[in-house]
Amino acid sequence: MKLPSIKELPIANKKVLLRTNYDVPLTSDSRVVDETRIEESLLTINYLLSKKAKIIIITHLDRPGGKAVPGLSLEPVVERLKVMLDRAKIEFSQEILGEKTKRMAAELKSKEILLLENLRFDPGEEANDNNFAKSLAGLADFYINDAFAVSHRQHSSIVGLPRFLPSAFGLDFLREAEILSKVRENPKRPIVVILGGVKKSKIKAAKKLTSWADYILVGGKLITYDGVPEIIDYHPKILGSLTKEGEDITIKTVKKFKEVIAKAGTIVWSGPMGAYENKKFERGTKEVAKAVVSSTAYTVVGGGDTEAALTKFGLVDKIDYISSGGGAMLEFLAEGTLPGIEAIKKGDR
Ligand code: 3PG
Repeated sequence: MKLPSIKELPIANKKVLLRTNYDVPLTSDSRVVDETRIEESLLTINYLLSKKAKIIIITHLDRPGGKAVPGLSLEPVVERLKVMLDRAKIEFSQEILGEKTKRMAAELKSKEILLLENLRFDPGEEANDNNFAKSLAGLADFYINDAFAVSHRQHSSIVGLPRFLPSAFGLDFLREAEILSKVRENPKRPIVVILGGVKKSKIKAAKKLTSWADYILVGGKLITYDGVPEIIDYHPKILGSLTKEGEDITIKTVKKFKEVIAKAGTIVWSGPMGAYENKKFERGTKEVAKAVVSSTAYTVVGGGDTEAALTKFGLVDKIDYISSGGGAMLEFLAEGTLPGIEAIKKGDR
């Protein structure tokens, strides 16, 4: 898959709006728990710094629902970024769009970074508001999407910005798209997709994956959602069952899943099998994780929760590829593209 690359744009000394995915877990006192997603953005940021670009980073954190939520400010993320990039000057704007941001953006010098507050504090972001995208675009000369994990969303900063600025993808996005394209186009069969977690949007992806995957194993809260049994409860797609408490899959389900996992050629896993954070409910996720890493299949895992679960069990290094996105990865594997990809391709014509 050949996508427009940041390396093809004349960004030297120019202002670049860089969409990253800093949707990181925070503690109740707002400390970053896992900085993987911040680290993943450094490849593109360092490239931009090497080209003496002026960098304006835009991103979201969690789901504040279109209003400012103090606990979901990006301030703690800026602090981590400052430590990781100690040679660059990094400023934070406590507003998204406004006179102060415009002034800070206008005064930005080469190799300086400005990070704007959580985009989802503004209802225009999730509503894909054209004026919101246009105002953001007014801050810069180019737009770079390096946020693979959120590129399945029809949001302003993903699909709106390419309408207004010359655009391309960042280096982390390109790497992710290349690896997942290979998995999609040339998989070793049988393909076993394991779905879990709580995000309802996975149902849409599950529906589309039924024609690509040989087996779809469903665990976690997902089992209980409307529409899931109809989509996948037929042989050989397997719907697990939850224990009485509803916080983990049953022993019988674990056994059934393990049998399928053992014969897989490719395994794609997104979403834990239960409330694994609690020792009482970790068994299903742990057993599935052990089965996945001991199989001979090529293993791909996507989404923050699944990665965190594997980290907890000390198994994360045994996975062949960890994708930054859960929902985005599944949609890409099902469709071979994402709304964020199409938006930049369209702007490219
Ligand atoms: C993720 O964590 O998968 C991305 O940041 C997307 O988040 P969302 O499901 O809230 O859009």
